[in-house]
Amino acid sequence: MKDIKITMIGMGYVGLVTGAAFAKHGFDTTCTTRTPEKAENLNKGITPFYEPGLDELVKEGVDSGLFHGSTDNKSCVKKGDITFICVGTPSLPDGGIDLSHVKKTACDIGEALADLDRYHVVVAKSTIIPSTTDSLILPLLEEKSKKKVGKDFGLCMNPEFLREGAALHDSLYPDRIVVGGYDQRSIDTVMNVYSGFDCPKFECDLRTAEMIKYAANCLLATKITFANELANICEFFGVDVYEMMKGVGLDFRINPAFLNAGVGFGGSCFPKDVNAITAVAKSKGYQPRIMNAILEVNETQPLRIIELAENKVQGVKNKRIALLGLSFKPDTDDVRFTRALPIAEALIEKGAEVVAYDPKAIDNFKELTDKPITYAASAKDALRDADICVIQSDWDEFKALKPQDFKELMKTPIIIDGRRTYDPMQMIQEGITYLGIGWKNP
Ligand SMILES: NC(=O)c1ccc[n+]([C@@H]2O[C@H](COP(=O)([O-])OP(=O)(O)OC[C@H]3O[C@@H](n4cnc5c(N)ncnc54)[C@H](O)[C@@H]3O)[C@@H](O)[C@H]2O)c1
Repeated sequence: MKDIKITMIGMGYVGLVTGAAFAKHGFDTTCTTRTPEKAENLNKGITPFYEPGLDELVKEGVDSGLFHGSTDNKSCVKKGDITFICVGTPSLPDGGIDLSHVKKTACDIGEALADLDRYHVVVAKSTIIPSTTDSLILPLLEEKSKKKVGKDFGLCMNPEFLREGAALHDSLYPDRIVVGGYDQRSIDTVMNVYSGFDCPKFECDLRTAEMIKYAANCLLATKITFANELANICEFFGVDVYEMMKGVGLDFRINPAFLNAGVGFGGSCFPKDVNAITAVAKSKGYQPRIMNAILEVNETQPLRIIELAENKVQGVKNKRIALLGLSFKPDTDDVRFTRALPIAEALIEKGAEVVAYDPKAIDNFKELTDKPITYAASAKDALRDADICVIQSDWDEFKALKPQDFKELMKTPIIIDGRRTYDPMQMIQEGITYLGIGWKNP
């Protein structure tokens, strides 16, 4: 066991997964939550959400005596040496972010620091607009603790880059670590925690660290949106956007990642972060034209699926549609900003009957909408008697479906694929009508 004790405030994707990774690296780590049941479950090795491999990693941490759950932020901060703020920063209606959880957490930490007579470092890991750490968190910590940053406690901003669905890999083997600090002592303390992580490490000031996270997510959202825009144009020429992008991605200045066209991006980060940076830029009197365009294309992109369906079957009214994939991407049960929602709602609006299925996200999706959707027990169950199958996210369970399954189960074997799950040639040779965004539609 290492001699630094860590507290993660927030038991969501970031707090729990990165906390489990710290425990794996030998640090005594406590993850806090406001929900007693979640804390009790964590102490029994039970995780609150689905993420591949997380159950095993959490159990290993709990069994080793290094990973714990708690509801008591203040006592955990007092017992520890470093506290990471990992609470949610959800979108507000104007696109900005809700900092109420960050504020509450900073107050709790400040009150705990008041009773501490040793150096402690507070680290913001949540995604927050530049200046939040120095102009919101710092004054709250000093006010509540009656202590001075730089002298009594340290302060850092350490953005998190994990991807849901691959969060374990990303936390255990990150491709870079960015630590922005109030001063060098704060940075050195946090970098010491990461000394066992083998990747490039970047030191900077607090605001640069905050901005790096937004810049990275906005650039990735831009790549996806660019691929989607190109997909829509490729269709006019019968060019397959997926093949075309393979050629584009060979350029070392571009690289092939995030060039897959489809129904647009969802999830808890890209839409929230692009909206937040757009809102803050506007509040400063600047119109961010690229960000505005990204949001606009992403809004309309899922509706391309409806357009393809309507063109193929002359309207979707009274048609039975199997909608496969409800989470925003495979290997997660997270439905925040999932593109399945606008697709399902538009289909129902047009009079279609929607039978939906997802391996992990049905319960979460039911909380998003009260539209009359039937939920199936399996992908094959959803396909039964369907006129069209719409694929919104490409889980392995869907990849494993055979052409025969579509032909035998569906009324008419028509697949409209938002993710290019199958080889089009194979599907077409098998007598399936296989359509998607950005390739030649027979
Ligand atoms: N999910 C991702 O893929 C991801 C990746 C990188 C960065 N981020 C950023 O990290 C932050 C957290 O994201 P997340 O997905 O883990 O959020 P989340 O909503 O899954 O989890 C946040 C957790 O914090 C808890 N919480 C709120 N206030 C609390 C308090 N006072 N005390 C204890 N717990 C409290 C909530 O109950 C919730 O469980 C966000 O700013 C997000 O933008 C997320």
